[in-house]
Amino acid sequence: MCLGWTKDVEGRSPAIAHRETQREFVARGLLAREEAEQLVCMCMLTKCWPGWMRLWRKHGFRNARLSLALMLLMLFGPATCGGAVRMASAQAMDVVTLPQPLTESHYPVERALRQRRSLRDFAATALTLKEVSQLLWAAQGVTSPQGLRTTPSAGALYPLETYFVAGNVSGLAPGIYRYLPRAHRLVRVSQGDKRANLAAAALGQPSISKAPGVVVLTAVERRTTGKYGPRGIAYLEREAGHAAQNLLLQATALGLGGVPIGAFVDARVAAILGLPADARPLYLIPVGRPGPGDSASKPRSAR
Ligand SMILES: Cc1cc2nc3c(=O)[nH]c(=O)nc-3n(C[C@H](O)[C@H](O)[C@H](O)COP(=O)(O)O)c2cc1C
Repeated sequence: MCLGWTKDVEGRSPAIAHRETQREFVARGLLAREEAEQLVCMCMLTKCWPGWMRLWRKHGFRNARLSLALMLLMLFGPATCGGAVRMASAQAMDVVTLPQPLTESHYPVERALRQRRSLRDFAATALTLKEVSQLLWAAQGVTSPQGLRTTPSAGALYPLETYFVAGNVSGLAPGIYRYLPRAHRLVRVSQGDKRANLAAAALGQPSISKAPGVVVLTAVERRTTGKYGPRGIAYLEREAGHAAQNLLLQATALGLGGVPIGAFVDARVAAILGLPADARPLYLIPVGRPGPGDSASKPRSAR
């Protein structure tokens, strides 16, 4: 069943999308689940065009409301489909494949637990793409063929969406990126250094503008509330805690540091990231190397 057109993740020639490949696009990180569903729905509308025409000819002229509804479907269905395809193609062009993360090291978890301290002053040194890869993997990376991740999730529903605000990262242009856990890739959602805007949305906290990068944990609430009702909100907030702690321990093990920031204006952060209406920012985590002005910058052996 042909449902629509899109480009593959490397931007190669278009491929026909159908229900099976919809799943593959999600798995490969080309589209988020919602985007793939939107694409399929809209393409189905387009495919049904001759049916709409027949219906209209048969009933539409006699029924004003049906006539209007059909007209709107025919006018805006294909246009929305085109939008979804354009969105998919645009995304395909802005995908960054991250280096493979390490899944073993000789740094004991006990040492990371003992040495982790909130870091608010960062050196001006750039983060490497390998470090960014490792931090994002620690927060939300996929660790099983079924798609289970480094952090637990109520009902394995994974409501968290992780963004990375890059300012000073070697091999990554300044901008805002969304992390695709299964594909272990980043998709650019906007260009330019947005750290100062983010700091302003967080009561001007300087740690955000000083850090070479900021991880932003957000959640699509309905993924969890759909199953657990209002209690799902508490679940996804707890999940952000798991992800943040993983990330901070991983940062410690890499000789980096960060601070989990909860003091910010939700709506302003959401606007900077361009979050969809049903998503909410939960944590900002600036990360980088210890700077001279932070007690955490003392050699770890001295602590
Ligand atoms: C929910 C939460 C919100 C926090 N918000 C901020 C914040 O907005 N700014 C900040 O600098 N630190 C923030 N922190 C970090 C705490 O200040 C820090 O963890 C605490 O001082 C203990 O120090 P430690 O992390 O070095 O052990 C927050 C921590 C938590 C758990």
